Amino acid sequence: MSLQYLLSFILLLTHNMVLHCASAAVHSHSVDNLERESDGSFRARDFDHYSDSGHNSEFDHEAILGSVKEAEEFDKLKPEESRRRLGLLLTKMDLNGDQYIDRKELKSWILKSFINLSKEEAEERMSEVDNNRDGLVTWPEYLQDAFGVDAEEEISPEDTGDTGMLLREEKAMWSVADGNGDGALEFNEFKVFTNPEEHEVMFPFLVNQTLREKDTNKDGRIDFNEYIGERGSNEDKAWIISEKDKFEHDLDVNGDGVLDLTEIRQWVVPDNDEIAEEEVDHLFATADDDHDDLLSFDEVLRHHDVFVGSEATDYGGDLYGEHFGDEL
Ligand SMILES: *[C@@H]1O[C@H](CO)[C@@H](O)[C@H](O)[C@H]1NC(C)=O
Ligand SMILES: *[C@@H]1O[C@H](CO)[C@@H](O)[C@H](O)[C@H]1NC(C)=O
Repeated sequence: MSLQYLLSFILLLTHNMVLHCASAAVHSHSVDNLERESDGSFRARDFDHYSDSGHNSEFDHEAILGSVKEAEEFDKLKPEESRRRLGLLLTKMDLNGDQYIDRKELKSWILKSFINLSKEEAEERMSEVDNNRDGLVTWPEYLQDAFGVDAEEEISPEDTGDTGMLLREEKAMWSVADGNGDGALEFNEFKVFTNPEEHEVMFPFLVNQTLREKDTNKDGRIDFNEYIGERGSNEDKAWIISEKDKFEHDLDVNGDGVLDLTEIRQWVVPDNDEIAEEEVDHLFATADDDHDDLLSFDEVLRHHDVFVGSEATDYGGDLYGEHFGDEL
């Protein structure tokens, strides 16, 4: 990720701070309805890793534990107990059993954590939506939860629900997620519907949806003006310049001035592989004290507060306090 992109990202975060406030705080983004950035792309898993109030350890802890609930539980443990449990995890992470965690082992662990986090999110969401608890989400149940109506006729296809997606787009996405086509979503299908950006089967739909929304001249590609769309109308010049920079240097990979289908996917769908690699770099930079490009169990346990929380290092709590201290 280029520095400029990071900077404009931080600007954007600051800009939307009031909106994002609740989700930037402790472990709460699992039931976050603001799943998308203002340009329509899905938020990356690490979207609040660095914010205006600094580094947020919650992301690191979730990337190691693969569960928001478990990360919260660790925040309440005595440091010794938290270290002991982390020690147990290290033996699972250490695939070749050499008592060191190398970059590959850590990356593959983090990628599995992301899958676990996604599953946990879907479970939570399912418990909210599946009203009669039969293990299936029906379209009326979803309508009731996300749009607050009993029947589609009560709203217009142009209405947006909790996710900010148009009703007709949600409906189209529903049929793609409904793999067996029985009209209702079982858990594995609902998982795809809830986190489409983490399931390859949804990528063509997401690219198409982006085109339907933004490709006003219908040439199957997105140019800079289409990319900006209506968002530009109440923004200043600096914002346009930073978006232009992002478009030219990050999104338009082949530099031909437009985003093709591949570039649209790379923009809309966060790259978990890259995020996991950045997280590995971050954890190595913090904990690889002897710079041998390996993390000994001892190094990890010495820096346990970077990997998992405990009552002594409840950064989440601090961050929350600071945030509201600044705001009020
Ligand atoms: C993911 O979840 C499985 C099943 O609960 C668990 O055994 C595994 O350790 C978890 N992995 C990570 C990386 O969090
Ligand atoms: C996406 O659009 C293309 C071209 O219009 C179409 O062939 C394809 O079936 C669409 N895929 C989905 C998942 O909507």
